[in-house]
Amino acid sequence: MSLPGSTVQAPSTGVTPGTNGARAHLFTAGSVEDYRRVLAAGIDRVATRVAGADRPFTGVTPDELAPRIAGIDLDRPLGDTGAALDELQDVYLRDAVFFHHPRYLAHLNCPVVIPALLAEAVLSAVNSSLDTWDQSAGGTLIERRLVDWTAERIGLGPAADGVFTSGGTQSNLQAMLLAREETRARVTGRETGQPSRPELLSRLRVVTSAAGHFSVQKAARLLGLGADAVVTVPTDTDRRMRTDELAREIDRCRGEGLVVMAVVATAGTTDFGTIDPLPQIADVCAAAGVWLHVDAAYGCGLLVSPTRRHLLDGIERADSVTVDYHKSFFQPVSSSALLVRDRRVLRHATWHADYLNPARMVEQRIPNQVDKSIQTTRRFDALKLWLTLRIMGPDAIGALFDEVVDRAADAWQLLTEDPRFEVVTRSQLSTVVFRYLPTGPGRDLVDDANLYAREALAASGAGLVAGTRVDGAHHLKFTLLNPETTLDDIAHVLDLVADHAGWYAHTRATAALTCPVG
Ligand SMILES: Cc1ncc(COP(=O)(O)O)c(C=O)c1O
Repeated sequence: MSLPGSTVQAPSTGVTPGTNGARAHLFTAGSVEDYRRVLAAGIDRVATRVAGADRPFTGVTPDELAPRIAGIDLDRPLGDTGAALDELQDVYLRDAVFFHHPRYLAHLNCPVVIPALLAEAVLSAVNSSLDTWDQSAGGTLIERRLVDWTAERIGLGPAADGVFTSGGTQSNLQAMLLAREETRARVTGRETGQPSRPELLSRLRVVTSAAGHFSVQKAARLLGLGADAVVTVPTDTDRRMRTDELAREIDRCRGEGLVVMAVVATAGTTDFGTIDPLPQIADVCAAAGVWLHVDAAYGCGLLVSPTRRHLLDGIERADSVTVDYHKSFFQPVSSSALLVRDRRVLRHATWHADYLNPARMVEQRIPNQVDKSIQTTRRFDALKLWLTLRIMGPDAIGALFDEVVDRAADAWQLLTEDPRFEVVTRSQLSTVVFRYLPTGPGRDLVDDANLYAREALAASGAGLVAGTRVDGAHHLKFTLLNPETTLDDIAHVLDLVADHAGWYAHTRATAALTCPVG
């Protein structure tokens, strides 16, 4: 199918199109009409699919989908936008997982706001790269303004700075890099008989809670720390870091000649949506002279909450903070930032290249964001937050986040009153962790029944829930980030979970009774 008025008709025979044919695809002054038409056609496909999605997933399996994708000859272009969109429907759009659907209750993925989608279209078309001023101009200043805005919301003080990143994992990695280098400088200045770099790296420790995010472990590995560099301290019954254990762990490390380079507190644990006791942790870190990083990848939405900002009290005492706008600010992936209290620490991510950002540019006060980032070429992701704030404003985003937090509280209540289920810690944010409890002869099959229910539900596509282990036992998890999800949606999914899990436990137990092993 050709788009009306499309000037582009590359042959589908595998013959290389002439330069003129290829050029017509370039986004230039001469092709803006095609640009309008082609993008409108793509938007129309997405809109139609989203409007027609009656469940979050079709339940397609990798085995079903893989041959369709493998069967496409990438060396033989279709040469036609409409045909490519038809094909895309078949290999992607039809079977994609739709986070906008109210019964998508699984991971930390949010439905996205339209102003951010508008920005996404603008930023990829203009294609600014935020490494240097001479590749972005205003984009650089817009990102800087948003970094300042976020740092002000956190309360990091006048010397704060930061940079947008690809996600929480990268933000945490950069935070650990800065903490490692600051610690190295401090230790090298303090200890006599200066330790060699490998010797010091093997002695560095990062302390986080048992509910912290695994990207901390990954960061430690990438930064060349020892295999046992990340020490986890236990959580209390609310799954928040125990500060007495933290203080004890720091003392223990010191007693053994180890150097704690950072404490990572989590403001919104991935599984439990709980917030570590930030003021008390900040006290411990201040007393010990240890870098405090707050991973607020999930909880950062509270920065704009009209009713719950106080839950983040203490975050203003951090040395560095991770925020993921693509989790609780309803932004498309990627949109994240790392903020630091003291802008000077960002020098640990600086390298001057003659061709790009020579040192003289610092004296010339040319704002090159690459001096602060571990990336070079970098998307202008900040524009999404910018248009969101300019069109909707922060209170509107915060109100959306508040809604899902309220809904999670309602869901938790619903579960506590439902004898079919057992529910874990009440979240301060929007997760709910629970499991189905089989009764009768299948009651011992609780782990397998919950595992089965999750898979069967996903295969049906009628709803998606996540899973995790709590104290060794398999549980199911809702992460609510869609304000359109109603308590009825949640109740419906719970019924489906109970049906699947109950059927599994009953069938397996009955089979075991009729065909006893041995
Ligand atoms: C607490 C926390 N930190 C960090 C991350 C990693 O963020 P990203 O997936 O954006 O890399 C996550 C992801 O779920 C998270 O929950």
